[in-house]
Amino acid sequence: MRRPQREALTDVPERVTIYEVGPRDGLQNEKTLVPVEVKAEFIRRLVAAGLDTIETTSFVPPQWVPQLADSAALLGLLGEVGRGRNRPVLVPNERGLEAALAQGVQAIAIFGSATETFARKNLNRGLQESIAMFAPVAQRARNEGLWVRAYVSMCFGDPWEGDVPIAQVVDVASQMMDLGCDQLSLGDTIGTGTTGHVHRLLDALDIKGIGVERIGVHFHDTYGQALANTLAALAHGVSVVDASTGGLGGCPYAKSATGNLATEDLVWALDGLGIKTGVDLEALVETSVWMAGHLGRPSPSRVVKALAGSSGAGDDA
Ligand code: HMG
Ligand code: MG
Repeated sequence: MRRPQREALTDVPERVTIYEVGPRDGLQNEKTLVPVEVKAEFIRRLVAAGLDTIETTSFVPPQWVPQLADSAALLGLLGEVGRGRNRPVLVPNERGLEAALAQGVQAIAIFGSATETFARKNLNRGLQESIAMFAPVAQRARNEGLWVRAYVSMCFGDPWEGDVPIAQVVDVASQMMDLGCDQLSLGDTIGTGTTGHVHRLLDALDIKGIGVERIGVHFHDTYGQALANTLAALAHGVSVVDASTGGLGGCPYAKSATGNLATEDLVWALDGLGIKTGVDLEALVETSVWMAGHLGRPSPSRVVKALAGSSGAGDDA
């Protein structure tokens, strides 16, 4: 079978926006430096496969993430395909914003941490200092009419600090949203979250006035929970889901982070529920296989493995 049998449920959104992070979260963690032309072709193929929202790259110091040091060149190569309110880039500070604006970027993501330790490791600043760093970035971005996303990492556990209290996550999330951000993305950076935890955090955010219509979920799949957690978030009313084509990804500043939820696995599950995404799964699988060739390793996605290796005529029974 090349697609799941469709059996819809009523208590999930009719349509889900897939926020594709493969070119950024995926490629920031690859050991090999992918040539900029290949990155541009990757993004063009993702667009052709029907992905609408794509985080393309980061404007961070090259010494921090050498894999994405070519961000300006990449946007130069992409032209209009790399611009628009649905092509965000990661920006940590005013210097990064300046460089992104010079490339005509119209959407950015700032990225805070729910824990002090990860703020120091990932941003070289304490948690409050990092929020102070983001404040003028968000303000200028809003003045320039940009769309702004706020990530919060380590929402479901931290490799140094262990459990992260829900109240602490809500506090950081509301400080980030108070900077005037349009969307909050809840990062399970190391993939330790489970479904009940997802419900409890969404409940607590709702009580604080951050409703599901402003929330996206960002699950790494280290413990195989990303899809289950996504379905829990959908049942709660979330309709923006971060995913990475082929399951690429991780975080260079949290070694226990592996790839994000694979976009193909997400599309298969949503298709089975009759939820619209606009994505052509066959074209996406082809793209993952093509990218895996450039990276020199197969995609960890189960759906990519199943579809890439079968013709669909009963050979996977
Ligand atoms: P720092 O080293 O403390 O910065 O980094 P600084 O202000 O001291 O500057 C040091 C040098 O870098 C200076 O150059 C600056 O000009 C330059 P020098 O004077 O020495 O020649 N510089 C820059 N150059 C280019 N672009 C810039 C920039 N800023 C300064 N934007 C900083 C502090 C916050 C910049 C750094 O720690 C940083 O960028 N960290 C980000 C690391 C990163 O990208 N991590 C991965 C992304 S987060 C993630 O993956 C999690 C997520 O997926 C969600 C989840 O899974 O949970 C989003
Ligand atoms: Mg991530």
